[in-house]
Amino acid sequence: MPNTLSPKEEIKRAADIVQVIGQYVQLKKAGKNFMGLCPFHAEKSPSFTVSPDRQMFHCFGCKKGGDVFDFWMAYHGVPFPEALKDLADRYNIPIKEAFSSGEEKERGRIRETLFKINEIAAQYFQEALGQSGGNPAVDYLKKRALSQEIISEFRLGYAPDAWDGLTNFLKSRRIDSQMAAQAGLIIPKKGGGYYDRFRGRVMFPIFNLKGQVIGFGGRVLNDALPKYLNTPETLLFHKGEFPYGLHASYKAIRERGVTVIVEGYMDLLALRKHGLQEVVATLGTALTHDHIRKIKGYAGEAIVVFDSDEAGRVAALRSLPLFLNEGLSARAVVLPHGHDPDSFVNKNGLPPFLALLEKGAPLFDFFLDQKLTGGGNSIEGKVTVLKEILPILAQLQNRAQRSLYAGRLSERIGIKEDVILSELKAAAAGLSEGGLQKNLRERGAAFEAKQRIGDVQLLNLLVHHPMAVTGLVETDCWKLLSDATTSRIIEKMFENYRKEGRFSLERLEESLENEEVRIRFREALVAESIYSDQEVKQAVREIEEKVCQTRLTNSIKAAGGDPKALNRVLLELKERDARSH
Ligand code: GTP
Ligand code: MN
Repeated sequence: MPNTLSPKEEIKRAADIVQVIGQYVQLKKAGKNFMGLCPFHAEKSPSFTVSPDRQMFHCFGCKKGGDVFDFWMAYHGVPFPEALKDLADRYNIPIKEAFSSGEEKERGRIRETLFKINEIAAQYFQEALGQSGGNPAVDYLKKRALSQEIISEFRLGYAPDAWDGLTNFLKSRRIDSQMAAQAGLIIPKKGGGYYDRFRGRVMFPIFNLKGQVIGFGGRVLNDALPKYLNTPETLLFHKGEFPYGLHASYKAIRERGVTVIVEGYMDLLALRKHGLQEVVATLGTALTHDHIRKIKGYAGEAIVVFDSDEAGRVAALRSLPLFLNEGLSARAVVLPHGHDPDSFVNKNGLPPFLALLEKGAPLFDFFLDQKLTGGGNSIEGKVTVLKEILPILAQLQNRAQRSLYAGRLSERIGIKEDVILSELKAAAAGLSEGGLQKNLRERGAAFEAKQRIGDVQLLNLLVHHPMAVTGLVETDCWKLLSDATTSRIIEKMFENYRKEGRFSLERLEESLENEEVRIRFREALVAESIYSDQEVKQAVREIEEKVCQTRLTNSIKAAGGDPKALNRVLLELKERDARSH
């Protein structure tokens, strides 16, 4: 038999969605589905649902959802053709041309080219490091005590101290200079031509979660400035998007349930060399939402190791609201004066470092400690601390958590808890309109959901029991619903069914006209079935009954006082009784 599946369908069949998403999000079985913390929005309790039966995901919090391709596109931030290609590669499914339409095609091609150029450059740098004979970078890395294994695993390299090393190499490989410039590797000269961005530096490729090179960092071998130079923003590289090293560490992070966060390339590599695997680096930028969302897919806890300098302290304080809002619990560790993780572990070995991690205080307490010892123990000082921390706590969406922290705060600074709570209320009320509106919207939605219960049940019945569709397709039961969105789905469902003599849920989703309708439909798809198989018949009968009754009531209303019309209605009623007996 010829193979009639499209590559898309074939991939969908091969790539189990639970397995694919499970690589990036910690999933726990819940009934017939899997649940986890959503990687697309801040949340503390799981509303991200993956359905193996439907091969789809849906977040009840942020409403993102879809099939395995939708996940891949959203998670990796890639366009559809690239998602198709990635998954096809991964499951060894041959595809011819992934890129379909004009603009998409163009963007896809450029990204593909940039990946290719980065890969060639990475190999060039690696080879330059490997060249024997007085290579200064080799000596430098020796001095930094990195092992050969680490150097190979992280593909460290060397950009020779020349203006045209890589430029010429890329030319010899027939790489378009303009594209290489777009990759951030070479820079156009005023008078024409190009020169190397990275010169005389140890090169650190930066990888995405798929292990592809998205950019580079380069370190000077001496005290020259800037110490590190990074790839600028490109189509592939966005500062603060990926924690460095996650592609290599995520398995260990998942196994341990915790991730250690450090600042620098060298910190991460030194720790890995000493055997600590569950570590990522922020590369000197402040922690971002993106970092934390990526990390929390693998671990429930983070230990942030800050340098002992002022910048490290400030960074620690700044990161508190991020962690609180993302629901990732965090501890802070500050190293002894003058140390960073690299110098500490190279001097003392791993066990003392682990002991420090062990002693790390919850970030919240660390925050208070820092603030209070910074001259904040006077009354004025305490009020200042309170003023600083209240807006942070007020941002917390979770009330239980808010009151928990209020309690801890009260204990620490000796201000009564109810005073803190009322101040907190005031602060929360004064929060941005946006926050307040969101809150109201959520409450409205919860209320609506209750009201909609009949609608939810009907859609649930139809989606999970094809028998019910067969039973009801000749009625216009969707007209009974108060909710227009659900009503529209069912109308469309029946329409498709009548047209084709059967209906496919997948086809139906594609035919729904807007996102709101599709979201409601997805929610019904991933939900558990409310009715058991035995209950379906009864449920169908009840709905039929309701449909009839409504029609009758309407007819009576329409008849007004007209006796003839009323008579017709009565006749109809009699006929119906006769049928059902
Ligand atoms: P080493 O001196 O090699 O041990 O570096 P370090 O990692 O200890 O340096 P530091 O703590 O100063 O910085 C931490 C991280 O911030 C580095 O790994 C870089 O990613 C980044 N960084 C540091 N200096 C610069 C800089 O001058 N420019 C840029 N773009 N990033 C920097
Ligand atoms: Mn260092």
